[in-house]
Amino acid sequence: MSVNDEFCRALPKVELHAHLNGSISESTMKTLTDMKGIKYDNKPQLMFEKDRNGTLEDAFRMFKMIHEVTDNTDAVYKITFDVIHDFAKDNVKYLELRTTPRSEPSSSMTKTTYVETVLKAINDCASEDLDIIVRLILAIDRRHTLDVALETVQMAVKYREKSNGVIVGIDLSGDPKKGTATDFIPAFKEAQKHGLKLALHLAEIPAPNETLDVLKQVKPDRIGHGTCLQQDIGGNKHIEQFVIDKKIPLEICMTSNITTMTVEGFDNHHFKYWYDIGHPCTICTDDKGVFTTSISEEYKIAARTFELSREELWELSYNSINYIFSNNDTKTLLQSKWKDLKTKIV
Ligand code: IMP
Ligand code: ZN
Repeated sequence: MSVNDEFCRALPKVELHAHLNGSISESTMKTLTDMKGIKYDNKPQLMFEKDRNGTLEDAFRMFKMIHEVTDNTDAVYKITFDVIHDFAKDNVKYLELRTTPRSEPSSSMTKTTYVETVLKAINDCASEDLDIIVRLILAIDRRHTLDVALETVQMAVKYREKSNGVIVGIDLSGDPKKGTATDFIPAFKEAQKHGLKLALHLAEIPAPNETLDVLKQVKPDRIGHGTCLQQDIGGNKHIEQFVIDKKIPLEICMTSNITTMTVEGFDNHHFKYWYDIGHPCTICTDDKGVFTTSISEEYKIAARTFELSREELWELSYNSINYIFSNNDTKTLLQSKWKDLKTKIV
């Protein structure tokens, strides 16, 4: 039987690359803009229309506007709560959300109240009857300084204790055309020293020097995008070989890359190269709100573009469990859940 919408929705899934403020659904956004008295119709700039391409600059303009809408702890609570429910409804059984701690003087929100609010929403969802495990990754924005990055790592260490292990890692993200990833190496090392995992956006655009330096000096646990790792598309053979030798999983965000035109068309997506050589890959959304997609949709696109069967999609989803930033007990729990569901679905 071929892959269809129903199968992709029913497939149990792991989502490992989802930025909180980029993942807000249209209906949550409408509630928030109504609350702020902003007319939603005047704000199509908050998400791309379906199948409409733009640029990375467009996406970063949108994040700036979204942050104006989510500039207080009530809004941050609501988006976290709603985004978790959205993913749970789409049969995501394990979610690693990532977000950049942010202070907003206009509402007296501080980085501390921001992180505490996100953790409270995660905790409240955990006490509901939702079939989803949620973990949090704190993000470093490339536009910020090393001091800010070190502060983020400190917060991650402190709140990992306070949240009983909900925080699992550190991300590097933000506009790939700004800042230099190597500047943050001391922060990445500090995170590793404290047992935090690293999921770093690398080579979203050609940047071979910083990519190789970061890979060699800290060896991240996962790579976000990895669009330009290969020699023929802006990387080089040392980068490619390192990623292969160390088996560093790639977080694949196809619609995001096509929409921001960092990849020209689904057929040309680097997923095909890495998947075909058997490299660990996990299908993700990046920003399901901004890019008007869902994780089920991303699985469907992979199947349709690269002619993957139900069994192959199942394997992709099942193997993603290996790349989560949680302990072996959680992995075993998820693996047995997947096996139970398999006979009903595939
Ligand atoms: P937040 O961290 O929850 O505020 O989510 C939005 C932020 O995620 C943006 O401001 C960027 O820093 C980051 N982000 C989202 N998508 C991308 C991407 O494709 N590349 C790099 N950074 C991104
Ligand atoms: Zn991302």
